[in-house]
Amino acid sequence: MAKTGFLSLMFLLLFAASRSTLSANSPNNSTDKSALLALKSHITHDPHNLLATNWSTSTDICNWIGVTCGSKHNRVVALNLSSMNLTSTIPSPLGNLSFLASLDIRHNSFHGALPVELTNLRRLEYLNFGNNSFDGEIPAWFGYFPELRSLIMHDNNFTGVIPSALANLSKLEKLILYNNYFKGHLPSGIFDNLSKLQELDLNENRISGRIPKCLFKCKKLRFLSLYTNFLEGSIPIEIGNLTELRVLYLGDNKLKGEIPSDIGKLTSLEEINLSYNNLKGKIPPVIGNLISLQVMGFYNNNLTGQIPSSICNLSSLRGLSLSENSLDGTISECIGNMSSSLSHICLQNNNFHGKLPDNFGKNCMVQNLEINNNQVEGLLPRSLGNCKDLMLLHVGNNNLNDTFPNWLGNLDQLQVLNLRSNGFHGKIYISDGTISFTRLRVVDLSHNNFSGYLPMKFFENLHVIRERYESKVKPEYMIFPSLDGVVWYAQDLSFTTKGLEIEFQLLLTTYMAIDFSDNKFFGEIPKTLWELHSLIVLNLSHNYLSGPILSSLGGLSELESLDLSSNKLQGRIPMELNNLGFLEVLNLSQNNLVGLIPQGKQFDTFSNDSYRGNPGLCGLPLSKRCDNDEETPAKFDRDGVAVDDELNWKFSILMGYGCGLVLGMSMTYVAFATGKPWWFIRIYERVRRRITKT
Ligand SMILES: *[C@@H]1O[C@H](CO)[C@@H](O)[C@H](O)[C@H]1NC(C)=O
Ligand SMILES: *[C@@H]1O[C@H](CO)[C@@H](O)[C@H](O)[C@H]1NC(C)=O
Ligand SMILES: *[C@@H]1O[C@H](CO)[C@@H](O)[C@H](O)[C@H]1NC(C)=O
Ligand SMILES: *[C@@H]1O[C@H](CO)[C@@H](O)[C@H](O)[C@H]1NC(C)=O
Ligand SMILES: *[C@@H]1O[C@H](CO)[C@@H](O)[C@H](O)[C@H]1NC(C)=O
Ligand SMILES: *[C@@H]1O[C@H](CO)[C@@H](O)[C@H](O)[C@H]1NC(C)=O
Ligand SMILES: *[C@@H]1O[C@H](CO)[C@@H](O)[C@H](O)[C@H]1NC(C)=O
Ligand SMILES: *[C@@H]1O[C@H](CO)[C@@H](O)[C@H](O)[C@H]1NC(C)=O
Ligand SMILES: *[C@@H]1O[C@H](CO)[C@@H](O)[C@H](O)[C@H]1NC(C)=O
Ligand SMILES: *[C@@H]1O[C@H](CO)[C@@H](O)[C@H](O)[C@H]1NC(C)=O
Ligand SMILES: *[C@@H]1O[C@H](CO)[C@@H](O)[C@H](O)[C@H]1NC(C)=O
Ligand SMILES: *[C@@H]1O[C@H](CO)[C@@H](O)[C@H](O)[C@H]1NC(C)=O
Repeated sequence: MAKTGFLSLMFLLLFAASRSTLSANSPNNSTDKSALLALKSHITHDPHNLLATNWSTSTDICNWIGVTCGSKHNRVVALNLSSMNLTSTIPSPLGNLSFLASLDIRHNSFHGALPVELTNLRRLEYLNFGNNSFDGEIPAWFGYFPELRSLIMHDNNFTGVIPSALANLSKLEKLILYNNYFKGHLPSGIFDNLSKLQELDLNENRISGRIPKCLFKCKKLRFLSLYTNFLEGSIPIEIGNLTELRVLYLGDNKLKGEIPSDIGKLTSLEEINLSYNNLKGKIPPVIGNLISLQVMGFYNNNLTGQIPSSICNLSSLRGLSLSENSLDGTISECIGNMSSSLSHICLQNNNFHGKLPDNFGKNCMVQNLEINNNQVEGLLPRSLGNCKDLMLLHVGNNNLNDTFPNWLGNLDQLQVLNLRSNGFHGKIYISDGTISFTRLRVVDLSHNNFSGYLPMKFFENLHVIRERYESKVKPEYMIFPSLDGVVWYAQDLSFTTKGLEIEFQLLLTTYMAIDFSDNKFFGEIPKTLWELHSLIVLNLSHNYLSGPILSSLGGLSELESLDLSSNKLQGRIPMELNNLGFLEVLNLSQNNLVGLIPQGKQFDTFSNDSYRGNPGLCGLPLSKRCDNDEETPAKFDRDGVAVDDELNWKFSILMGYGCGLVLGMSMTYVAFATGKPWWFIRIYERVRRRITKT
């Protein structure tokens, strides 16, 4: 395309050069000069002084930065001011650049009204206003550019409907308007004459109504993106007419009905994404005809039936996402065969059952396998041990019946391991001298039948979590490395923290969590666990753990959520807990802890729920006062202010209760408002802020 544009530009230059001499009063390069100077005078911000110094009246305009002239008449044929950080409006004299073929002002802060005089640019082929600050409607006179091939105005604040006058641009090849506020229906007939259109990108607008059938007359379309709009109705069967299509993005709309089987005609298709719609019915078996397909995203629809076996034909497939549908049946063996190209397998939240395929080959490329929230059973496939690039394995909420997968330990890319709510059982034992699971950041073994001691060596091996935060590389969203530049994020993962299942839109590399809750672990908490300096969430609740909480837990300096409830822990609560400066959630309830609850710092923010069911505990926020022979609160008050005055004491309890209720209500509100509990938002925000800070 760039090539076509260039060639036609060359043609234009030759054409311009071959014209006979112009009459005295016809526009000449002085006209161009005054047009450019008019533009310069409208620039209010030019931080690099580019135009201020370079566009000097004493030099030939053809030497001005961003200006390209035709060879014979020295008329301006291209103006490229992209990424110059300019703030300006477009003055009407710019319409006097009558030889202009290319106008590129992308990535600046141009704003204001578009002057109708631009319609004098009869030779304009390329117009790029992308990423500026324009707003308002696109004027209807945009239909008056007879030569226009590329109209690019993404990332602005344009509103109104997409004008039907664009139907007049019969030479248009690219129409790129994403990330604006366009609304209303796509005018019917708008695409009737755009037979040359190759790229149409209208995503992230507010376009409603059906996908107009005339769109499918644009037989040259190679790229069609309409995602994140309010489109409704079904996917028209005429989609099958777009046989040149390489990319089809219709995700995040309100499309319903079935996926038309005519989609099988799109044999050039490389990417299809229909996620976040209300599509139902079966995945058409003709999908197997799309032999060039690399990415297939049907996430979050209501598709039913089995995965068609024809999918096994898709030998180029790298990403398969069928998550959050109502698919059933077993997972075909061929998924394992495809693993020499297939890197991303997302099947979570369906009704898949039966055993997982166990034929992941020696050159397995799988980076993430997410099949949580199904009913798969049997063993975790041992051949997954061939997948050396595996970073994320989530098989939570299934019926797997297996022992702990020690054999995954030497996959040195593995960062997230989630086995939650299955029938995993037995002891976890890593023998001395074994180096395994060193890269793990998130381990969720909760709600299984694991037993025995907590694995001391396992925690010791978690090098990434042991490292202190400061020494680590810049935190970012977890992405899967790819060979072809396509970015895959670890997305929509859910974890359970404090009894609530929370979902991460994107997973941050700084999120480090260990959840061994609701198993049958017993014995003391090994000291290697308290050395996981970057741990953010620790949940060991609902086990049979005993012994004291060691003062070395102060080493978990990044910890934000600590749940040790419903165990048999004994002794006092160590003062060192106060070193955990980010702790937001604390649950020590239902243990055998005794003595005074430490006071000060964030201890003041925890309510009695944090301590309930420990008959031996006393002091704020519990109403049980400590006996005289207990240490007095004053001893723990870091400001040295005595708080043993009766009145003060009662007041504190009252206020605590009231605050708890009020706070509780506002917490619930936030949780409802955003679908996430308040403390999660704070945890998430803190981790996110670190990103923007560094
Ligand atoms: C350009 O055109 C103007 C009239 O529009 C004329 O006065 C001037 O002499 C012309 N300059 C050149 C270099 O042709
Ligand atoms: C303006 O910029 C162009 C391109 O960078 C350069 O060739 C030219 O010498 C500059 N002119 C002046 C007057 O700075
Ligand atoms: C117009 O072009 C002529 C050469 O054709 C050149 O000498 C003159 O400097 C140009 N004028 C401007 C204002 O650039
Ligand atoms: C304008 O310049 C930028 C930066 O040099 C370049 O990437 C872009 O392709 C140019 N635009 C056109 C239309 O040639
Ligand atoms: C543009 O200006 C902003 C501040 O106005 C600055 O942060 C940014 O780095 C500049 N960008 C370029 C490419 O000069
Ligand atoms: C250029 O455009 C302006 C405004 O559109 C107009 O007033 C002027 O006469 C035009 N011609 C020249 C030679 O500047
Ligand atoms: C928009 O342009 C600015 C510079 O003006 C740049 O920093 C930013 O990355 C661009 N945004 C997009 C989405 O291209
Ligand atoms: C769009 O408008 C909003 C306010 O309505 C403003 O915050 C935002 O910066 C604008 N974006 C652009 C690209 O002008
Ligand atoms: C379509 O473009 C032609 C040529 O530029 C023009 O004459 C005609 O008025 C335009 N029609 C509409 C509806 O924009
Ligand atoms: C789709 O193609 C068929 C056969 O080429 C043609 O008859 C039909 O009119 C086309 N549909 C649309 C909407 O262009
Ligand atoms: C999904 O489809 C099933 C069966 O067709 C239906 O019972 C269910 O309500 C649908 N769910 C949604 C969210 O539309
Ligand atoms: C798990 O598998 C073992 C045999 O390996 C079997 O004895 C046991 O009953 C199974 N448990 C469940 C819950 O299916």
